[in-house]
Amino acid sequence: MASSIPTSVLCVCLGNICRSPTAEGMFKTMLKQHQLSIYVDSAGTSAHHQGEAPDARSQQHAKKRNLDLSTIKSRQLTKDDFLNFDLILAMDNNNLQNIESLKHQVIRDYSARGLNPNLAEVALFSLHDDLHPNKPLPDPYYGGNNGFELVLDQCASSINGWITHWKTLSE
Ligand code: 4NP
Repeated sequence: MASSIPTSVLCVCLGNICRSPTAEGMFKTMLKQHQLSIYVDSAGTSAHHQGEAPDARSQQHAKKRNLDLSTIKSRQLTKDDFLNFDLILAMDNNNLQNIESLKHQVIRDYSARGLNPNLAEVALFSLHDDLHPNKPLPDPYYGGNNGFELVLDQCASSINGWITHWKTLSE
């Protein structure tokens, strides 16, 4: 586990239209409230919704909590993300496995050239969540309104866990 506050964090789900854009928007707001300067972005392990704005339902539910997700555009996770970010957070265990497997490809690519660059650490988004430790963030896409509210609640609690963790590192 990294023992310093990251300078950049990438939130990753499957489509990058529901969970990870919500996490991105909420991270930005909560980091500002805690006066922490960390760059935050989001991506999907699939390219299925590439270029799309967040799902209209995610945007509507986020808006009720004063989060504007409208400027986010879906993009797929790339190998370069492992070089460009300090920490990559997976919204659930399937995505965690896919991210870890892409990271291993990146390690193999570089070691074939005799290189060993610093790569992003990969962790589950809920790792430090006091209320839902290590709980996957459920995919709300095929469900009802409750699922979108649950994503917002769990995002707030998981992000709170990371911020509390980072603050203890800086004490
Ligand atoms: P996300 O949700 O991974 O939270 O963005 C999904 C969005 C789209 C699909 C699945 C999950 N889909 O199957 O198109």
